[in-house]
This record gives sequence, structure tokens and C-alpha cells, in this order.
Amino acid sequence: MGEQINVSINGEKLAVDKGISVLAASMKAGVNHMHLCGGHGLCSTCRVRILEGEEHLSEMTTFERFSLRGHLSFAANVRLACQAKIEGAVRLETIFPTIGKLDFKGP
Ligand code: FES
Repeated sequence: MGEQINVSINGEKLAVDKGISVLAASMKAGVNHMHLCGGHGLCSTCRVRILEGEEHLSEMTTFERFSLRGHLSFAANVRLACQAKIEGAVRLETIFPTIGKLDFKGP
């Protein structure tokens, strides 16, 4: 098991492996996080607002920067959940509404 990092996503608190994407952490938390392009950085429906710990996410790639800043012009604390990797404690919220919770346990 790798280093565990505490995160809060839409108020759901959990510990995740350092280096996983915000989207993966969100889904692990059971958040029904919209990600229409399947995590390929194309749709921006996964975008999140960073409330604390912005400096604990991976550096924004040129691709992500173009998608968010150049094309859609979002605020500086908005990231693509599928592209940003968790390096330290962070608190964030999804921008698109979520409906219900994911349940990986099945019936
Ligand atoms: S899931 Fe489409 S940009 Fe992140």
C-alpha cells in the first residue's frame, strides 16, 4: 500500500493512495462524478473547484491548461478531475451536480 492522503470531496472524507487522479478518488468516495469522455481530458464535465490544498495537486499540463483556461476560461482554482493527481491533502467539490451515490457492492 502506498502513502495515504486525506481528501474531502463534496464533504465525503476518505484516504487515498498518493498519485491517483481526483476522479478516481471521487469515485472511490462514492461520488457519482460526471465524466462523459471517460477521463480523457476532452469534455471538462469532471471539473472540480479546489477549496483547500490547491498546491497539493499535480502541476497542470499544457493540455489541461488549454482545455480549462484557453478554451473555457475557468477560475484559477478549477481543475479537471481526470487529469489532476493528488499529492497531498485537498478539499474540493464537483461543479456539475451529482445525483445519488455510487455503490460498488452490488445487490
Ligand atoms: S472526464 Fe472528460 S475531461 Fe475529465
